[in-house]
Formats: sequence, structure tokens, C-alpha cells
Amino acid sequence: MKIAPSILASDFSKLGEEIKRMEDAKADLIHIDIMDGHFVPNITFGPDVIKSLRKYATIPFDVHLMIVHPLEYVERFADAGADIITFHIEAKDDIKETIEKIKSLGIKPGLVIKPNTPAEAVFPYLEDIYMVLIMTVEPGFGGQSFMADMLPKVSAIKDKAKEIGTDILIEADGGINMQTASQASAAGIDIAVSGTGVFKAEDPAEAIRLLQNA
Ligand code: DX5
Ligand code: ZN
Repeated sequence: MKIAPSILASDFSKLGEEIKRMEDAKADLIHIDIMDGHFVPNITFGPDVIKSLRKYATIPFDVHLMIVHPLEYVERFADAGADIITFHIEAKDDIKETIEKIKSLGIKPGLVIKPNTPAEAVFPYLEDIYMVLIMTVEPGFGGQSFMADMLPKVSAIKDKAKEIGTDILIEADGGINMQTASQASAAGIDIAVSGTGVFKAEDPAEAIRLLQNA
């Protein structure tokens, strides 16, 4: 399983160093949570912050948009250096149009589903996207408990992708740590986001290695 440390759990006063620290610790991607205070009850950072961080690491930036209007902002996140942009199927913009816009910018698009949204919601879009991100907590905050009952969504989506003959990556986000990673891995998750599990570990490099091999 690939590991994407979420910088939501990092020390915001030294984000550049924190990202470099994760690359040195052999993280596969950097997960960046964008919250607008409307889609979720929390606010994080915008495209200018990402732009200034881009020079601190070369591994891909996996940008998770928890914002009401992704279509209005994807271009700015692309310019800032995002490699993957995921947005919520529950957001307010036209889904196909937003996917096409992300692709036109040369970025890999992904759709995110909240815990109450069924796996079937992404089926109509599987041929057009690179990844599905399954939330294993309610979006908005780090440090919450892993919802193992989300895991059947992984095989539901993978089976459907196989049936229609398309490739899809599955990412899971929320509560993934040393205690829960083996369940996530066994369910077939390709990329696990881990905030608290990596940044608050005594030895993040060791934590990443253990999570990758879970
Ligand atoms: C929650 C975010 C997650 C969060 C994960 O809205 O999307 O990426 O940072 O943090 P942990 O791993 O601490 O649950
Ligand atoms: Zn996230």
C-alpha cells in the first residue's frame, strides 16, 4: 500500500520542512487537505500555500478539495503544483465538467465520497477518473477513529471497474494508523492517507515503512 501523509497533522509553522521530512522518510505522496469553512466546518490553506511548498519535495501532491465549488478553483490548484486533485461528489458543481476541467489542466482527477454516500454514486464516472477516495471518517478534522464499515466500498468499486474494463485506484482517508492499516490493506486499498499516524509517530520513517508493509 502506498502512503500519503496528510499535512493536516503537521506543524503549520514549518510546513516546508515537514513536507521535506516526509519525502526523506520515503512517503509516496503528500496529501494536502483544502477546507473552505463551508463544505466542512474547518479552514486550512489555499493555492498560494501549495505553490510555496512545491519546491520542498518532488513526490506527487495529492490535493483533497473539501470545498463547495471545486470547479472555480481547480485551475489555481493546478497552477500551484497539484499532481492529483480529488473533489467531493457531494460538492455543488457539475461533476463531469469538473472532471474534464481537471483533465484539461493535465492533472489526474479523483472523486471523494463521504461516509454516508454509497459506493454506487461514483459508478457513472469510473471511466473518466484516476482514483476514488473513500472517506473513513467524516471530513473536516484529523485524529478521528477509522470507520471499518466503509471498507466494503473498496471491492464494490473495484468489481464495477473490472466489469466495465477500466482501471481505478482506491485511496482511503481518515484514522489510518498502525492499528487499522492492515484492515485497509486487506480490503484492497492502493493508497492510504495518514495524518496523525505518521506525523505524531516517534519515528515517522519507521511508521511509513510499517504502514506501507501492513
Ligand atoms: C479529514 C482529512 C484527512 C485527515 C486524516 O478531513 O481529509 O486527510 O487529515 O487525518 P488522520 O490520519 O489523523 O485521521
Ligand atoms: Zn484528506
